[in-house]
Amino acid sequence: MKTDIARRNFMGKMAVLLGYAGLGPLQLSGQGRSRQAVAGAPDPKKPADYDKLIKLANNENPYGPPEGVLKAMNDAWKYGNRYAAPDGGIFDAIAEHHHVKPENVLIGCGSSEILKIVDDAFLPDHKLVVGVEPTYETVYRFATNSKAKAIAVPLTKTYDANMKEIIRVTKLNARDVGVVYICNPNNPTGRIVPKDEIKLLLDSIPGDIPVFIDEAYHHFVDDPNYEPSVKYVIEGRKVIIARTFSKIAALAGMRLGYAVAPKEIIDQLKPFVMSYNTNTIVKFGGVASLKDTANEAKIKQLNKQIRDRVTGELKGMGYEVIPSQSNFFMVNVKKDVTPVAEEFLKKGFVVGRKFPPMTEWLRVSVGTDEEMKGFMKVFKELFPAQPTAQTKAG
Ligand SMILES: Cc1ncc(COP(=O)(O)O)c(C=O)c1O
Repeated sequence: MKTDIARRNFMGKMAVLLGYAGLGPLQLSGQGRSRQAVAGAPDPKKPADYDKLIKLANNENPYGPPEGVLKAMNDAWKYGNRYAAPDGGIFDAIAEHHHVKPENVLIGCGSSEILKIVDDAFLPDHKLVVGVEPTYETVYRFATNSKAKAIAVPLTKTYDANMKEIIRVTKLNARDVGVVYICNPNNPTGRIVPKDEIKLLLDSIPGDIPVFIDEAYHHFVDDPNYEPSVKYVIEGRKVIIARTFSKIAALAGMRLGYAVAPKEIIDQLKPFVMSYNTNTIVKFGGVASLKDTANEAKIKQLNKQIRDRVTGELKGMGYEVIPSQSNFFMVNVKKDVTPVAEEFLKKGFVVGRKFPPMTEWLRVSVGTDEEMKGFMKVFKELFPAQPTAQTKAG
């Protein structure tokens, strides 16, 4: 893959200007993000193989949608022949959920469509998006497609967003910055941007630069230093929040996400939305899902319990794990993750993809208890316990 990335010191303070985000062996388009076939391994594109695979690569909810959501969707099939079918009240439900007006809400074919139309509206040719690296790389891919560029600020030594640097480069390039992208918590690290740093960002950069905060994994966070940012929309700041039903709500394949933003921004985004962009069935599912707070709490708790157990085991084996506030985590396997992911695939587990420059860090989505026991079994087969500092010294 041709790249004109000028990479600099990963942990340093320099921002990196990205032409193409560092594309690895996986193609990154929604339709093309498929794994290359691996000799001797199951092929995820074959339904029979797919069903048997343990899928720990896309940060999905492994339990599936709860009964009430399935019922709401099943009851909506009768509208499947219509464009202008009832929408189940999805705009009102989202608005109510966030204490905003329906005019502050735009729904998309997953939050991917929101990322795309933010790019269409705010990143024309030569504009800049400021974000971190690594982050959810789709944003940089869209920017590249529209001939905009990304200023990607390296993470700090603790794998956090370097907010001072984000602010510095945004101010320095203020005339050309179309949008600042903050993924909170960040994919792939699972790290949050604390509430005071979001405030610092908004208070420090020119007020006419939109700040796009992607809260796809918001529901999994329990760090008290985190806070959702819809309050800034209510304050009338130039902030766009993206949320999705693909993660905790378990509707990834049904495709529903949304933006919450001030009305003027929603009006700027609307012309770029694809006609009839979301299916009728999932709108009903989305409404039922927002109401089912008990299921959400259950999934959050299960995820935390299993994630903390598995990451504790990995750390106990001597591997470095980035403390995550999400439904995935990164473990440093100290070798290129592409062949590592292939080895996992041969054993029936889909894990990782490469997130340059963290090429030796494997991202693992948190599956069910049984799936993660299987993951640990394979991990122990592939990786020996690391000598601890004490045994090294001895
Ligand atoms: C941070 C982030 N934003 C957005 C998306 C897009 O999700 P969807 O289009 O399914 O809502 C993802 C998917 O993994 C993601 O990780």
